[in-house]
Amino acid sequence: MWNFPLFPERASTTAGRVDAVFFGGLVLVVFFTALICALILSLALRYRRGLPADRTRPPLTSLTLEAAWIGIPLLLSIGLFTWAAIVFFEIYTPPGDASDIYVVGKQWMWTVKHPEGHREKNELHLPLGRPVRLTMTSEDVIHSFYIPAFRTKQDVLPGRYTQMWFKPTKPGKYHLFCAEYCGTLHSAMGGWVYVMEPADYQRWLSGAGGSLVEPSMAKEGEQLFVQHHCAGCHRGSQVVHAPGLEGIYNRPVPIQDGKVVRFVMADDRYLRDSILLPDSQVVAGYEPIMPSFQGRIAEEDLLKILEYVKSIGPGGTER
Ligand code: CUA
Repeated sequence: MWNFPLFPERASTTAGRVDAVFFGGLVLVVFFTALICALILSLALRYRRGLPADRTRPPLTSLTLEAAWIGIPLLLSIGLFTWAAIVFFEIYTPPGDASDIYVVGKQWMWTVKHPEGHREKNELHLPLGRPVRLTMTSEDVIHSFYIPAFRTKQDVLPGRYTQMWFKPTKPGKYHLFCAEYCGTLHSAMGGWVYVMEPADYQRWLSGAGGSLVEPSMAKEGEQLFVQHHCAGCHRGSQVVHAPGLEGIYNRPVPIQDGKVVRFVMADDRYLRDSILLPDSQVVAGYEPIMPSFQGRIAEEDLLKILEYVKSIGPGGTER
């Protein structure tokens, strides 16, 4: 069987838009390359030595011609830029209703963690037609999470979170790659993405097909929260004066910055830094007494604690 695909499948809402920009640019480049080649060739033939072409009074200036060759390419390239920028912003702006999945890269494997508790290695199971946001980090070097069929690729960096999102549009099994050279087995660091019909996905979530079911991330996060003694101070301790964390996620937090107070968003990055580099952003009205947990909590556990903090609404109740 002849199997030599020249082009990956289009399996997400992003894929068609990215391809359109790519082919739009390609058409433009091919058109102008052909035009210029044709002009060079035909003029070279027409005015070659020995031919009795009319060489009297060659035009020295032509304002219309000059304006055209400056103006038309300018408009075309600005148009292409605007088009690509719009697609770029769409790729990097996850929709509000996207569900979260977490990814940790390390030499040379991808670990995928679903908030419901499922944990996968070098595989990613997704429901059809639902937007998904990946929050990703690395335990060692820079990796890059790449799903060609979705036309999405994002670097995965140690020490911070990067995100990417997509909405699968076609059930199937698609390649997953690491697209950043990360050492000896870089080329083997990949696996498969499975896009499933919603009913099949529900079956998979319930443990069919050998998926590993663990407690939800928020549940495990709460255990870690207690185990690392976060709860001792952040749950209304009488002894230690520490800010409560209920309903804090994605809300502005006042930070003491020298003499002034400024507000920062309590997003993933803020929460991560607050755990690992607590002195870098002390909440106004509190003392910088929290110890750093740098090197003491694994990336996957940090993500679980994050899920827990996200899950506690005002008053400490689960959302
Ligand atoms: Cu990980 Cu290349």
